[in-house]
Amino acid sequence: MNEFSQNAGAAIEPEQEQTGYDERHLIANDELLVLRDVQRSYVQADNELPVLVGANLTVKAGEMVALVAPSGAGKSTLLHIAGLLERPNGGEVYIAGQPQSSAADRARTITRRDEIGFVYQFHHLLPEFSAVENIVLPQLIRGENKAEAHERSMELLKYMRVDHRATHRPAELSGGEQQRVAIARAMANGPRVLLADEPTGNLDPTTSDYVFKALNSLVKQSGIAALVATHNLFLAERMDRQITLVDGKVVEL
Ligand SMILES: Nc1ncnc2c1ncn2[C@@H]1O[C@H](COP(=O)(O)OP(=O)(O)OP(=O)(O)O)[C@@H](O)[C@H]1O
Ligand SMILES: [Mg+2]
Repeated sequence: MNEFSQNAGAAIEPEQEQTGYDERHLIANDELLVLRDVQRSYVQADNELPVLVGANLTVKAGEMVALVAPSGAGKSTLLHIAGLLERPNGGEVYIAGQPQSSAADRARTITRRDEIGFVYQFHHLLPEFSAVENIVLPQLIRGENKAEAHERSMELLKYMRVDHRATHRPAELSGGEQQRVAIARAMANGPRVLLADEPTGNLDPTTSDYVFKALNSLVKQSGIAALVATHNLFLAERMDRQITLVDGKVVEL
């Protein structure tokens, strides 16, 4: 355990007073990300396109799961729903044991900020801010002290071996450096769930190997639950488990 593990594996008290809390839906303490019977379809030109049709998934603390599926199968849709960026049409998402479907937007935003780290395919760093500022910002939004946020950001950059580029803006970083800063940013608030959408998608083999190793050791050391969409089968095989999407359902590989 280290400084990144502050939230990981914390005891989760099921809200017994909550009405309708079905016993079958109790989540074990280490089941940090759970999807139950998640449905999602898109309506396009009067046609309903079902993307997720009863997707079930559990990712435990310290586990790194690879999501490997063809383009259009619904990987990003699943990650966005798990990351509370989108709501499903049906089913339930539990983050650290807490059901999210009936939560108000404000509560979901706070859960996203405090419990979830999201690494986008194209880093989405803020272009006008430096690498270290990109990591400081989410901590300030959470109400952290500026000096402490800066210190933690530098530690994360060091961990990702890009601290020598701390004052560079995203445009002044290589693709691999941008992606490592994006991972550091996703870890800024000590999330318990890490979601990454093709984090090594546009990187050369050496850099993607490094990014994978850094992600993996963060997950193992912090005890967070990670779900990583990737087309890279070599990387997928090195994760703890591989899953795919078949006709809108999660299938173990
Ligand atoms: N906002 C939307 N409106 C309508 N259809 C959508 C929308 N978002 C996604 N889709 C459709 O849902 C399906 C799943 O998309 P998704 O982005 O989840 O796939 P993916 O597995 O991430 O693919 P890729 O590997 O190309 O990133 C696709 O057929 C896509 O066209
Ligand atoms: Mg996608």
